[in-house]
Amino acid sequence: MSPSTPAPHIPVMLEECLEWLNLQPKQWYIDATFGAGGHTKAMLEAGVKVLAIDQDPHTQAYMARLKQDLADNKRADFLSVQGNFEDLVQHVNQAGLGAVAGILMDLGVSSMQLDEGERGFAFRKDGPLDMRMQASGDSAADVVNHYEQEDLAAIIFKYGEERYSRRIARAIVEERAREEITTTQALAAIIQRAYPKGSYRRDHPARRTFQALRIYVNDELGVLERALKGAESVLAEQGRLVVMSYHSLEDRIVKHFMRSSEFLTGLTKKPLLASEAEAERNPRARSAKLRVAERSVR
Ligand SMILES: C[S@@+](CC[C@H](N)C(=O)[O-])C[C@H]1O[C@@H](n2cnc3c(N)ncnc32)[C@H](O)[C@@H]1O
Repeated sequence: MSPSTPAPHIPVMLEECLEWLNLQPKQWYIDATFGAGGHTKAMLEAGVKVLAIDQDPHTQAYMARLKQDLADNKRADFLSVQGNFEDLVQHVNQAGLGAVAGILMDLGVSSMQLDEGERGFAFRKDGPLDMRMQASGDSAADVVNHYEQEDLAAIIFKYGEERYSRRIARAIVEERAREEITTTQALAAIIQRAYPKGSYRRDHPARRTFQALRIYVNDELGVLERALKGAESVLAEQGRLVVMSYHSLEDRIVKHFMRSSEFLTGLTKKPLLASEAEAERNPRARSAKLRVAERSVR
């Protein structure tokens, strides 16, 4: 990927995010999931300052490009770091910011990440089976080739909510005894064969298993919980936390956190969804759920 790659990520529910962040000119906000920077750019244009975070090293080129495109007198309004949003507090401290006026989290993978076969996130593109957002820890290939069948099934069930998790795990274990599974296409084909005929959902049979492996390999749910706690602690009074998630496991964590926090008041009883027009234009927006909370007491 480079900043000149065509069709980068289209920001989802952009207007809604800006509105719910309740942008206050010249105040600091955090975009914890910079991606291609669509939300950050619009926030800067609205006159606020942004600290952008993304753990994917590939987003640095987009960060540099955005900085370059800003007018000289605006450059100090944009800070960026490559890092995990679970270390939000540390990033805010290192940037020398005090409490911030709002935080945006647009979870999951960007369309650039899905488009890059070599990163191994996508079942439709061939590439090595990796899926790590950072270069350490077990890769998806490690999990698939070395975990016990029962553990594999549990991961696929828990993080993919896949009803055929046991069949899939069995097929993986049988297949890997013949040959190591090293590519996304090999895994996708195994899952497709394991799936009972006629029970295909709207989406590809491998979608849920790929989601499960990605969540597991990156400990995405644990990271999200820690990030939400960090976000709560760096928000100024009346600061807004705006979170967009794309599957029910994440949405459940966000909902529960916003409801149970003693320092946050939920502003969205039900999650906000993208308009039909946006969902039509951008299929990624179809599964987006946006929740907002406000920091009450400090
Ligand atoms: C859906 S994309 C964000 C798209 C962005 N809002 C835009 O408009 O271009 C999600 C981004 O979050 C990043 N991300 C996911 N988990 C993260 C984490 N734990 N820490 C930091 N960044 C993370 C991914 O690398 C990806 O670039």
